[in-house]
Amino acid sequence: MKNTTAIITGATGNIGSVIAEMASKEFSTLILCGFKNRQKLQKLKKKLESNCTIKIFSSDISVFYSLKGNFGKIFTPQTKINALIHTASVRSDDVLPLAETDTKHWENTLKTNLFGTYYLMKILLPYLRKSDWARVVLLSSSVAKTGLKNGSAYAASKAGVSNLAKTLSLEEGKNGILFNTILPGPVEIDDSHFDKKYNEFRKKYYAKILNQIPLSRLATTHDVAKLTLFLASQKNSYITGQEINISGGLI
Ligand SMILES: NC(=O)c1ccc[n+]([C@@H]2O[C@H](COP(=O)([O-])OP(=O)(O)OC[C@H]3O[C@@H](n4cnc5c(N)ncnc54)[C@H](OP(=O)(O)O)[C@@H]3O)[C@@H](O)[C@H]2O)c1
Repeated sequence: MKNTTAIITGATGNIGSVIAEMASKEFSTLILCGFKNRQKLQKLKKKLESNCTIKIFSSDISVFYSLKGNFGKIFTPQTKINALIHTASVRSDDVLPLAETDTKHWENTLKTNLFGTYYLMKILLPYLRKSDWARVVLLSSSVAKTGLKNGSAYAASKAGVSNLAKTLSLEEGKNGILFNTILPGPVEIDDSHFDKKYNEFRKKYYAKILNQIPLSRLATTHDVAKLTLFLASQKNSYITGQEINISGGLI
C-alpha cells in the first residue's frame, strides 16, 4: 500500500521474521528492529528490499534513551507510523518456582517485556497519532491468562502487556489508534539454540498441553503472522482493546 509505514520489533525472531516477510508485501516502508542478531537483520533486509523500502536498527528495548536515540536517527519531522507490531521479548528461561527465582532475572524479564513495551509506546505514540489510520498489535501469550508454572516473570510480564493495550485503547481511541493483543498458545519454532534445561522444560510443557488442544497441533508462525497482519491493517476497522487467543481452542 502506498505511503504506509510499519514498525516491527523482534524482527529477527521466529514469529517476527515471518511477520516481516508478509508485511513487506502490505506496506511501502518497514522499519525492522532487532537486538543481538545483527546478521539475521541484515539478511532479512536484503531478502525483503525488493518488496518495499526497508530500514533496520538494533537496540535494547529495555533502555529508554538508547531506544529513543535509535528511532531518532531514522525518523524525520514528516514521519508518520501506520502500524506497530511488537514481538520483541525474552523468554522464561530460568525455569524455577517463584520462591527460588533470582530477583535480577525477574527484574530483567519485566524490564524487557513490560517496561520495553511502555518505552516503545511512549516514543511512538506521537508518530502514530499523526497518521490517518494507525494500528498497534502487541504479542502477549496465553500464559497471561493461565499463569505458567516455573515461569512467573514471563507470565506476569505478558499479563502486563495485555493490560497495557487495554488502557491504551481507552486513551487513544479518540486519536484513531486501535490496540490489540495477541495471545498465542504454544507455537512451533526453531528450538536448536535453547539451552538444555529450558528445552527440556519447554518440550515437557508442550507435550502435556498438546493433548488438551482441540485442534491437536501447535500453532505455526504463519498462523500467528496472518492474524497479526489482519489486526495491523485497515481491514480491522472496529476491533480494539481486545486480547485475541490463537491457541487452537485451548483457551
Ligand atoms: N514462540 C512461542 O511459542 C510463543 C508463544 C506465545 C507467545 N509468544 C510471543 O510471541 C513473540 C515472538 O516470539 P518468538 O518465539 O518469535 O521469539 P524469539 O524467536 O525468541 O524472538 C525474540 C525477539 O526479541 C528480540 N529481543 C529480545 N530481547 C530484546 C531486547 N532487550 N531488546 C530488543 N529486542 C529484543 C530478539 O532480538 P535478537 O534475536 O536480535 O537478539 C528477537 O528478535 C514474543 O512476544 C513471545 O512472548 C511466543
